[in-house]
Amino acid sequence: MSEDETTRLPSPDGVLIRLEHVSMRFGKKEVFKDLTTGFRQGATTVVLGASGVGKSVMLKLIMGLLKPTSGRLFIGETEITHLSERALAPLRTRFGMVFQGAALFDFLSVYENVAFPLREHRHLAEEEIRRIVAHKLAVVDMTGTEKLLSEELSGGMRKRVGLARAIALDPEAILYDEPTTGLDPVTADTINDLILRAQHELKTTSIVVTHDMASAFKVGDRLIMLQEGEIIADGTPDEFRRHPDIRVQRFIHGNASLTAAPAKSLSE
Ligand SMILES: Nc1ncnc2c1ncn2[C@@H]1O[C@H](COP(=O)(O)OP(=O)(O)O)[C@@H](O)[C@H]1O
Ligand SMILES: [Mg+2]
Repeated sequence: MSEDETTRLPSPDGVLIRLEHVSMRFGKKEVFKDLTTGFRQGATTVVLGASGVGKSVMLKLIMGLLKPTSGRLFIGETEITHLSERALAPLRTRFGMVFQGAALFDFLSVYENVAFPLREHRHLAEEEIRRIVAHKLAVVDMTGTEKLLSEELSGGMRKRVGLARAIALDPEAILYDEPTTGLDPVTADTINDLILRAQHELKTTSIVVTHDMASAFKVGDRLIMLQEGEIIADGTPDEFRRHPDIRVQRFIHGNASLTAAPAKSLSE
């Protein structure tokens, strides 16, 4: 892989992240069986599915935080399945992760939270860190909040700071784990706008795990739905709205209060 920080990872066919025949088991619990899919460079893919279906596990497999029981994972042309933590480290700096529940360091200021990955992975003068933090906070509309403690922030503000931290290293991919869960609809929609902004301004590849259909239809170029260890649906937002699988329609309708456009009636 190139040492040049600005070089994007080579990805055959424009697919940046690839899972090949991935199985994942925890004891007797089989989360994935023979899962194969890819995530295209520059696209936003939404991963849908009920609680406990394996959405967070999928993101952790991609980040190399979990190892699959069998199968292979690729980032660009690099197989990461068996890479050590040490070998994964430079790849991870190219991926920003917005964790479920924001996962900020509560005892640190907003400034230190966003500066954290810069201190970990870059050797920068404090001036430069200050400049980058200010810029990332501007991207998420949090200018001037550097001195606040993260425990003083509202849920929506915490998500924003989490996003600012995730983009601190200018990642080429951002993985979002339930970025709008627990937020009121208006605040959730501001997060959707930030996801779209990150996609357009930073040209990132994005994976958004959610069960918020309004968010899915707004930010997704492509939606996939997981159930019982498999991808049961994979398509554009329009294809999802018209999807013939009743499990997909039930999922959309179960979240229908926030659906951007009405899906077809189940009785059709
Ligand atoms: N580290 C782990 N050890 C054991 N079981 C786990 C672990 N991580 C996740 N699981 C199990 O895998 C399943 C999928 O979890 P998860 O990906 O967190 O679901 P979700 O789709 O809600 O994000 C759940 O049954 C969960 O209990
Ligand atoms: Mg989860």
